[in-house]
Amino acid sequence: MKEQLEQIKKSALDALESAATPAALDELRVRLLGKKGELTAVLKQMGKLSPEERPVMGQLANSVRASIEQKLEERKAQIDSAVLEAKLAAEAIDVTIPGQEVCLGHQHPMNQVLQQIKDIFVGLGYQVVDGPEVELASYNFTRLNIEEGHPSRDRSDTFYFTDDDSVLLRTQTSPMQIRYMENHKPPLCMLAPGRVFRKDEADATHSPMFHQIEGLVVDEHITMGDLKGALITMMRKIYGVDSVTRFRPHHFPFTEPSCEMDMQCHKCHGTGQIDGQVCSTCHGEGWIELLGAGMVHPDVLRNCGIDPDKYSGFAFGMGLERTAMGRLKINDLRLIFDNDVRFLNQF
Ligand code: DAH
Repeated sequence: MKEQLEQIKKSALDALESAATPAALDELRVRLLGKKGELTAVLKQMGKLSPEERPVMGQLANSVRASIEQKLEERKAQIDSAVLEAKLAAEAIDVTIPGQEVCLGHQHPMNQVLQQIKDIFVGLGYQVVDGPEVELASYNFTRLNIEEGHPSRDRSDTFYFTDDDSVLLRTQTSPMQIRYMENHKPPLCMLAPGRVFRKDEADATHSPMFHQIEGLVVDEHITMGDLKGALITMMRKIYGVDSVTRFRPHHFPFTEPSCEMDMQCHKCHGTGQIDGQVCSTCHGEGWIELLGAGMVHPDVLRNCGIDPDKYSGFAFGMGLERTAMGRLKINDLRLIFDNDVRFLNQF
């Protein structure tokens, strides 16, 4: 029995030494020390020994058990720490590797220009307002002095919702003049940016949806001088103090007199030519048309319950895309709506 116990001890310590995983250790613990284990099997034979031998063998068996237990503990500690080491090595983080760049978005170029224009007019005391894109023909046309039968009311130009042509997608932001004057008494200064819609095929300069910014000022003694002052102030802030503008007579049904404002081409400085070639920015004109404006027609004031003998006003309407294209040197309108990030990231 003594040899048996010694044999068990030797082979147990060898097996434990070569066990490499926590699972292998557990398996050994059961095999060596468990109820059906090798040591237990030997102890079960103790009854067959003589009374003298029994305590000697008992002691030996206990010391074998103690050695195995001690070795088990030792190996467990070693294996646990090896497992931890391996895990730490596998999960090591190299804090010196450059991080992945977080791509921050920014305002769309159209919004950048819109924000700048709003800031300018808020600085001049204007109130910025919003209005409906689905509009009544009476606001979009009739009360702006645009009679039945006027070409701009044509079904080929305007998106109508009803057979009687009374509801439509607004074709201009000018109906905001009527809406604002209905609800505010002079003195008033209003700026109304927003989407407008026309039945245009999309090309480099046209889109069925685009943006306008409407301005309206009504008070006593408002003159064309006030109109020019406001618009030239805006131009200088957007395009720089040396930007050159001109006002040309024009016709709009809702203003009298009416004009258009042009900006001298920033590319060819008004000559229409660059190195003997026709300037591609202004197509040789030397000027770029920017907006329509004029003194509010007395009938329009009257349509809103404002006495034209006491009050006068000016109004203007500018295309946001056109202004942004000039400001940011964009040559195709479709780029603005495509929203390709390679394009947007340039601004
Ligand atoms: N609504 C006009 C258009 O879409 C632009 C315009 C012209 C607006 C003259 C005005 C104005 O307020 O006074 O062509």
